[in-house]
Amino acid sequence: MNNFQYYNPVRIVFGEGQIEQLAELVPTDARVLITYGGGSAQRTGTLDEVKTALAASGNREVFEFGGIEANPEFTTLLKAADMVNEHDIDFLLAVGGGSVLDGSKFVALVSSLTEEDGTVSRDKAWDALTSYCRDIDSAVDLGAVLTIPATGSEMNSGGVINYSERQAKLPFGNPLAFPKFSILDPLKTMTLPERQVMNGVADAFVHVMEQYLTYPVNAKVQDAFSESLLKILIEEGTAVKADPENLETRKNIMWTATMALNGLIGTGVPQDWTTHMIGHELTSLHAIDHARTLTIVLPSVLRELKDSKKDKLLQYARNVWNITDTDQNDDAIIEEAIKQTENFFRKLGLPVSLADVELDAAAIDPIIKQLEVHGMVKLGEHSKNDLAVSRRILERAVTSHA
Ligand code: NZQ
Ligand code: ZN
Repeated sequence: MNNFQYYNPVRIVFGEGQIEQLAELVPTDARVLITYGGGSAQRTGTLDEVKTALAASGNREVFEFGGIEANPEFTTLLKAADMVNEHDIDFLLAVGGGSVLDGSKFVALVSSLTEEDGTVSRDKAWDALTSYCRDIDSAVDLGAVLTIPATGSEMNSGGVINYSERQAKLPFGNPLAFPKFSILDPLKTMTLPERQVMNGVADAFVHVMEQYLTYPVNAKVQDAFSESLLKILIEEGTAVKADPENLETRKNIMWTATMALNGLIGTGVPQDWTTHMIGHELTSLHAIDHARTLTIVLPSVLRELKDSKKDKLLQYARNVWNITDTDQNDDAIIEEAIKQTENFFRKLGLPVSLADVELDAAAIDPIIKQLEVHGMVKLGEHSKNDLAVSRRILERAVTSHA
C-alpha cells in the first residue's frame, strides 16, 4: 500500500425526512443562497421543504438561484457568483444532483475573483479552472441536499464544469470545496426518471473501477471495499430496474454512490481516470450524459490495457463476477469479465459503444484533438496513456464486442 493522508470533513445526514435538519445545520444568522437546477427541485417539492426548514429557526436571509444545467455551465455559474457578492451571501445551499453541487462548489471558490467593478472576472475564473482551482485560498461555506445518487460530489472536494463556448469540460478540486454537510434523503430519489437512476448506478460503478482496476499494491482494505461496492451496485442496480419503488434498494444505492467517490477507496492506491477524461470530451462534443460516456469507454479501456492491468482484471473476474473456471486461460477469463461488465450496463439500458449513441469512427479525431487541447496526454496509473492509446481505446469502442 502506498503512503497516504486521508481527510474528509463532510457531515453526512442520511435518511428519510432529514431535510428538516437544515434548521440546525445552517448557521442561524446566515445569508443563504439556495442553488438548484432546471426545475426538478421545484416540481418535487424539495425546494419548498428546504425553505420551510430554513425558516424554522434563526433569522436567515434566503435568496435563490435556479437554472444550473446538467453539466453545469461556466457562464451560468458566474451569474450565481455575482449574486453571492451582490447579496453578501455567506452560505451556499446546493439542492440537486452532481451538477448543482459541482456548480455551487465552483461558485463558492470563484466568487472572490472579481474585477475592479466588483463583478466576477471571467478571465480569472477561467484561469482558475484551467489550473484545477488548486490555488484558490478562500471560499464561501457550502452545504448540500442531494437528490440524485451518482457522483459522490456530496462527500468530496471536486467537481466538473462545462464551458460550451470553449468546448471544454474540466475537473477541479480544492479542500475548501468540501461541503460542510450533505443531506441524503433516499426518498428524494424516487422522483428520478429511470434513465437518471441507471446513470447514477453506472457512474458510481465506474468511479470504483477507476480507483480499483490498476495494479495490485497489496491494499486489502481498499480492494475489499471496492469489490463490495461493485457487487452491491450490480445487485441493487439490477434490483432498482425491476422494482423502482423499493426504498431499501434506493438507500443502498445512495450510500454506495457516496462511498464510491469520497476518497476512501482511492487512498494509498494507484488510480486511472482515463475513462472519465475521454468521457468528458464525449459529453462536451456530443452532449451525451456523463455516465453514458463512461459505459461506452470503460470496456475498451480494459481491453486496450489488459496487459498492464492483468493482475487486477483477474482479481476483478474472480472476486466480483465469480469467474473461477480454471480451465480457461487468463485472456479468456479477462474477456469474460469485461463481457459481464458490458452485459450489466446493457441490462440497465446503457450504451456500450459509440454505435449505440449513433456515432461512428468519424467521432474519434475531434475527441483526440480536444484531449490534446486539454492536456490529457499522459493518462492512466502509469501516465503512459498518450493520444495514440486514447485513439486505440476509441477505435475499440466504435462497435460493441459483446
Ligand atoms: O436540473 P433538474 O431539473 O434538477 O433535473 C436534474 C437533471 O436533469 C434531474 N434530477 C436531479 N434530481 C432529481 C431529478 N429529477 C427528478 N427527481 C430528482 N430527485 O436529473 C438530471 C441530471 O442531474 P445531474 O445533477 O446532472 O446528474 P448527476 O448527479 O449525474 O451529475 C452529473 C455531473 O456531475 C459530474 C459530471 O461530470 C456531470 O457534470 N461529476 C462530478 C463528480 C464529482 N464532483 O466528484 C464526479 C463524477 O465523475 C462526475 O464527473
Ligand atoms: Zn463520474
